[in-house]
Amino acid sequence: MHKFIVKGPCKIKGEISISGSKNAALPILASTILFEKEVTIKNLPRVKDIDTMLNLLKSLGSVIKFSKNKKIVKITKKTKQNYFASYSLVRTMRAGILVLGALVAKHQKSVTSLPGGCLIGARPVNYHLNALKKLGMKYEIKKGYIHANTKGKLKGTKIRFSKISVGATENTIIAACLANGITILRNCAIEPEIIDLINFLKLGGARIKFIGKRTLKIEGVKSLESVSYSVMPDRIETGTFCVAACLTGGKLKIKNFDPRLIKTELSLLKKVGAKIITSKKQILISGPKKIKNITNLVTKEYPSFPTDLQAQFMVLLCKANGKSLITESIFENRFMHVAELRRLGADITIKKNKAFISGNTDFQAAELMSSDLRASVALVLAAIVAKGSSTINRIYHLDRGYENIENKLQKVGVNIKRTH
Ligand code: EPZ
Repeated sequence: MHKFIVKGPCKIKGEISISGSKNAALPILASTILFEKEVTIKNLPRVKDIDTMLNLLKSLGSVIKFSKNKKIVKITKKTKQNYFASYSLVRTMRAGILVLGALVAKHQKSVTSLPGGCLIGARPVNYHLNALKKLGMKYEIKKGYIHANTKGKLKGTKIRFSKISVGATENTIIAACLANGITILRNCAIEPEIIDLINFLKLGGARIKFIGKRTLKIEGVKSLESVSYSVMPDRIETGTFCVAACLTGGKLKIKNFDPRLIKTELSLLKKVGAKIITSKKQILISGPKKIKNITNLVTKEYPSFPTDLQAQFMVLLCKANGKSLITESIFENRFMHVAELRRLGADITIKKNKAFISGNTDFQAAELMSSDLRASVALVLAAIVAKGSSTINRIYHLDRGYENIENKLQKVGVNIKRTH
């Protein structure tokens, strides 16, 4: 199994280019099932989850042609459509559940594996199933699979999500595009990745518009047209590198990224002392000599502070000169990185979903174990500022969502190498 060796402390200096967003590309790829004709998707990140989604689409009957650098795919239909989304693929990449809405909308049937839980939580899909049922999907769960079918096409209706859910919003938008009639979705998640999915579907002829802050109106159409689309850049990767620059007292230029997508995160980094200059498509961030603490940071749905940057900010607040508190309000078990940070010398106390961080940590290098995608990158950040040589094991977690991260970090001054 691959691991990283990181020799710290390093200062981050230079320029970074951000890859395409994994969490925008996954629903967009799943929704290609709705299309009759060829669809071209550009700016795909070369990460494991994208490979898994493409394999899932191939298993369902899509023909995938790659560009040389594998960042562009052309997707067309094989004549024989398949409706079985297997556990072997869906369990490793939870977003596999997003093919359910597309298969039922397009083909009126699907046998899709329940995604199962993961380390950060049980990750149920009840909001997905309740919404698709309201659109007319009949289903029963047998041996871990959702056996779904509909008599004829799905029917537009009014749906209000009882809790804001990124995946359930995406699944229902996708399904409603080909339903008969109008669907009104209330209490939707509005993450930028969902806006990217909507922009993609509209370019293909879907009729979707916001009629309220979290309310969508979707008018079903008969079919979608051929389309070529470039996926948005990854805001969580951008936030991760901004934290890295801040943490190391370095200076980083991030190009081709709209800073408005991480307004909340940038204002938090200014609060801890970073100097940030932004223009339309660029961020220039310099880290402070002294990092200030944040007395109460709560993860919430967009546009509030994102749970996917919680672990990274925790490393930053370990270095702050004072006590900080982070409350994780989205997932029930997203503090796996804490035990590993303690091995580097962090003083963090967990009480339910709250992490009390002492600050002024003098990280010392250690051998570490990755647990989930964002926890793993937090360990890399901590190792970058730790004194000595750290080993980070099981970095396959990282490879699921960060493209070429060691090359990008080496280019801005980090002493990191991948070994087997
Ligand atoms: C998406 O997961 C992202 N994944 C996650 O990123 C991200 O952390 C999460 O949204 C929150 O922003 C992708 O986009 C592929 P949710 P998702 O439905 O859709 C509960 C990463 O690191 N819930 O908004 O699964 C759920 O358990 C990943 O890139 C139900 O109870 O998130 C969670 O507690 C990690 N029933 C909360 O709602 C449901 O039917 C929010 O989940 C659905 C969700």
